[in-house]
Amino acid sequence: MDLEQFAALRTPEGSAALDAAARVAGGDPLAAAATLRSAGVPAGLAAAALTQAELRRRAAGKFGAAAGGMFLTRAGLEQATRGAVARRRAERLRAAGVATLADLGCGLGADALAAARAGIRVYGVEADPLTAAMAAANAEAAGLADRFTVECGDATVFDVTRVDGVFCDPARRKAGTGRRIFDPNAYSPPWDFVTGLAERVPRTVVKVAPGLDHALIPPGAEAEWVSVDGDLVEAALWCGALAEVPRRASVLREQAAHVLTGSGDAEAPVGPARRFLYDPDPAVVRAHLVAELAGDLDATLADPSIAYLYGDEARPTPFARCLEITDVLPFSLKRLRALLRERRVGRVEILKRGSALEPEKLRRDLKLAGDAAASLVLTRVAGAPTVLLCRPLPA
Ligand SMILES: C[S@@+](CC[C@H](N)C(=O)[O-])C[C@H]1O[C@@H](n2cnc3c(N)ncnc32)[C@H](O)[C@@H]1O
Repeated sequence: MDLEQFAALRTPEGSAALDAAARVAGGDPLAAAATLRSAGVPAGLAAAALTQAELRRRAAGKFGAAAGGMFLTRAGLEQATRGAVARRRAERLRAAGVATLADLGCGLGADALAAARAGIRVYGVEADPLTAAMAAANAEAAGLADRFTVECGDATVFDVTRVDGVFCDPARRKAGTGRRIFDPNAYSPPWDFVTGLAERVPRTVVKVAPGLDHALIPPGAEAEWVSVDGDLVEAALWCGALAEVPRRASVLREQAAHVLTGSGDAEAPVGPARRFLYDPDPAVVRAHLVAELAGDLDATLADPSIAYLYGDEARPTPFARCLEITDVLPFSLKRLRALLRERRVGRVEILKRGSALEPEKLRRDLKLAGDAAASLVLTRVAGAPTVLLCRPLPA
């Protein structure tokens, strides 16, 4: 879509085309286009409206009902922060006393809108003209145009002395190709600008890829990893006065948030495999908080380099999935196949940490037959390749 097509969508005809497209989106695209054309919508406008309707349907998973009134680009939606994550960040910023915030590279405005809803005055800067225009339209559609304004331009020249907090979520995909960028020096705005912000603005937050190398965490900053329903979605660096702890894992499950904090460099005790296995949430693992979780659960590792924990009892925790171990055997395909036959196991889920085995190949090689289900955990215990046959416990 270009700016001209976007402007057409913002007219009364465009608005009617969007309503019509919302009614037919999700079905056969050719039939949807034919319906709009037969209602007298010009082909170009119909195509733009149908694309928006399709993107809005996809965005509902990230933004809920608010997605229905938003303007979106495919790339902008992919990069946008989920509503629940943006809301938590905004509330924390507000609670820390941030009243005016610059969002440097605001994209379609998911974070900025959440901050504006939390009562913060947000100045968004966005380099891409279409994305900037859409962000402004999103502010208007949300009734937040007085609290979130957007300037199209280069965020690196924004005067940060105008605000008391800065948020930056640099683009981690190559413009045009959409390919992921793994080297922070290739982010846009670039990494040295992003980390330099913390020296200029005492309250700075930077959203980064969850795979961020811990060595890149600026000294004194808090690094937070966030998961939603078991998926690791992002990391954020809370700098200056906003840093509260060295490391934080925020685990969002079924609308509730659970937080584990710690130093990130503690070591969990090591012992034998025990009756219950805990598979920690990816946010806990990436935040290097497995030792803190082990302390809470009175659990141990069976290998110092593998993030599975073992305990004598199944303690309910939002930070790990718990399985009951029924058998521990050194890895041997023949022995495992024989055991699963004996137990009549026909369905398995395969988990692994510290094993080079390919789960799908193993599943084929096991030639399963039977009605029972089990979980197989491929790992190492005291350095030896081991398979744990497990029974999952209710969450
Ligand atoms: C990851 S997206 C931001 C997404 C946003 N936080 C959200 O949740 O909707 C990064 C945005 O920064 C913009 N950008 C990259 N470099 C920029 C620069 N130097 N000045 C302004 N915007 C920039 C990109 O066009 C992109 O839209």
